[in-house]
Amino acid sequence: MATTQPTSTTTTLVHRATSGAAEWWRTAVIYQVYPRSFADADGDGIGDLPGITSRLRHLARLGVDAVWLSPFYRSPQHDAGYDVADYRDVDPVFGTLADADDLLATAHDLGIRVIVDLVPNHTSDEHPWFVQAVAAGPGSPERARYVFRDGRGTDGEQPPNNWTSVFGGPAWTRLTEPDGTPGQWYLHLFDVHQPDLDWTNDEVREEFRSVLRFWLDRGVDGFRVDVAHGLVKAEGLPDWDGTSAMIDGAHEGTTGSEDGATGAGSTGPMWDQDGVHEIYRDWHSVLAEYDGDRCLVAEAWVEPLARLAAYVRDDEMHQAFNFSFLTTLWSADALRRVVTESLEANDEVGAPTTWVLSNHDVVRHASRLGLATPGAKPNGIGAQDPQPDEELGLRRARAATLLMLALPGSAYLYQGEELGLPEHTTLDDDERQDPTWWRSGRTERGRDGCRIPLPWTADEPGHGFSPTGATWLTQPDSFARYALDAQRGVRGSTYETYRSALRLRREFRLGSGSLAWVDGLPDTARGSVLAFVNREILVVTNLGPETLRLPADLQLVHASQDLAVAEDDAVLVPADTTVWARLGR
Ligand code: NOJ
Repeated sequence: MATTQPTSTTTTLVHRATSGAAEWWRTAVIYQVYPRSFADADGDGIGDLPGITSRLRHLARLGVDAVWLSPFYRSPQHDAGYDVADYRDVDPVFGTLADADDLLATAHDLGIRVIVDLVPNHTSDEHPWFVQAVAAGPGSPERARYVFRDGRGTDGEQPPNNWTSVFGGPAWTRLTEPDGTPGQWYLHLFDVHQPDLDWTNDEVREEFRSVLRFWLDRGVDGFRVDVAHGLVKAEGLPDWDGTSAMIDGAHEGTTGSEDGATGAGSTGPMWDQDGVHEIYRDWHSVLAEYDGDRCLVAEAWVEPLARLAAYVRDDEMHQAFNFSFLTTLWSADALRRVVTESLEANDEVGAPTTWVLSNHDVVRHASRLGLATPGAKPNGIGAQDPQPDEELGLRRARAATLLMLALPGSAYLYQGEELGLPEHTTLDDDERQDPTWWRSGRTERGRDGCRIPLPWTADEPGHGFSPTGATWLTQPDSFARYALDAQRGVRGSTYETYRSALRLRREFRLGSGSLAWVDGLPDTARGSVLAFVNREILVVTNLGPETLRLPADLQLVHASQDLAVAEDDAVLVPADTTVWARLGR
């Protein structure tokens, strides 16, 4: 068994603590609510805004600073609401505008801020603008709001270029013109029901300024910007032979790769064009007209990290999800590298790093970390695929979360991770609703497995998700043991572990803290231990198979698992565990 020698350790400072009052979002823990799967009030089996409002106390008790709501706008729901038909109204499936106002007011009363989703890359094909564009014909101002082009080939029968959709299949669909003849093609980087807007068009720009104001006037605290790296396409829409996938693979913590196979499909003429930044500078100035530090957070699958940091320069957005961190494998070296590079890149522009491990687009981290390659990121898991080790995955997920919540910056949690929920990996294929499943020719299972309705109670039908017991996707049997009421008040449960972590993170001001790597713990040479100091807290994650001994003069503050104490009072940290300890007794 290894023995630590604290006196021989060395530290390397990577990030300094910030001092004084600062905007709330710099250090906030923000909880993602996926409305259709959070809580259902009206009994139709689909979550809704009144359901969310009724459960906000759960989030206040958990200790989050803010919620981010995935889209609840009027939508035909071809991509679970990311196909918006009216940006200024609530879809009847989720409730009414009055329900949105009520949610905002209740959240604010509880001290929880609210971020809503903004989907500017594309609209629904049922948005009035697209309906008008189809009717108006080629060359019209209505078509100029979208990316319509004539096809290639003698009769325009070939798509304008070779781009593929992120969900699989071609990124272009040909219209039949109003007079019945085969017509122009329109671009859709996602589903056929999600036509891309043309952001060189001033009307498009003006419309989104107005949408921002509509929600800012209602009191929202910020916007999560969907596909923030995709709005501007390269001049001339050149062919591209690389992948257009946004969530491609997992990697080992190096962030300079250009091969597009590492975590983010950020290369290619459809992604991360310099022209996007002007849009965010414009939006920054819109938000700045309002009080209360409203914020913009970029969903931008962009690497290397220095390019991602450009989205959070001080006159642009405020946060950008760190997907390089999310896609890093369970390896001490890789994690150290990505954390260092992230903090350095963001420090360069004076922005916080925004950590995240799970969301509604990726396999839940409790399952990713239980795969044969821990941290790999398949595009969904089906019953025929190799199954994750549930117990090991959860153990590592709790360790990863405690590591993340001790890092300086802001952190996002995805609903259900506080319960330790695994991915539903055996969902019946006939139930799948993610367009990825059929657009990929039923080869990529996609994202339904991380979108299963939450289990609030162990013993009720539908685990208390809905008063009727209905759930829009079937919950797996295992959800009974993950239900909130089976964990609340239970020492060492995942829920109580998260709750204590959030309380201690606040108490020790870790979000505005520092990061200095600690070397010299015996195992670090073998690359199986990650150790750093943030303010007075030493954070140690043991990723190796052997138990680690921490010296007795450390005061244990929190741990992702129960720890044993040796006869000489040394703390024994087992494999796949994170510990927070106070330096000195
Ligand atoms: C990213 C969103 O997170 C995802 O759910 C959606 O399918 C695409 N953008 C398209 O809007």
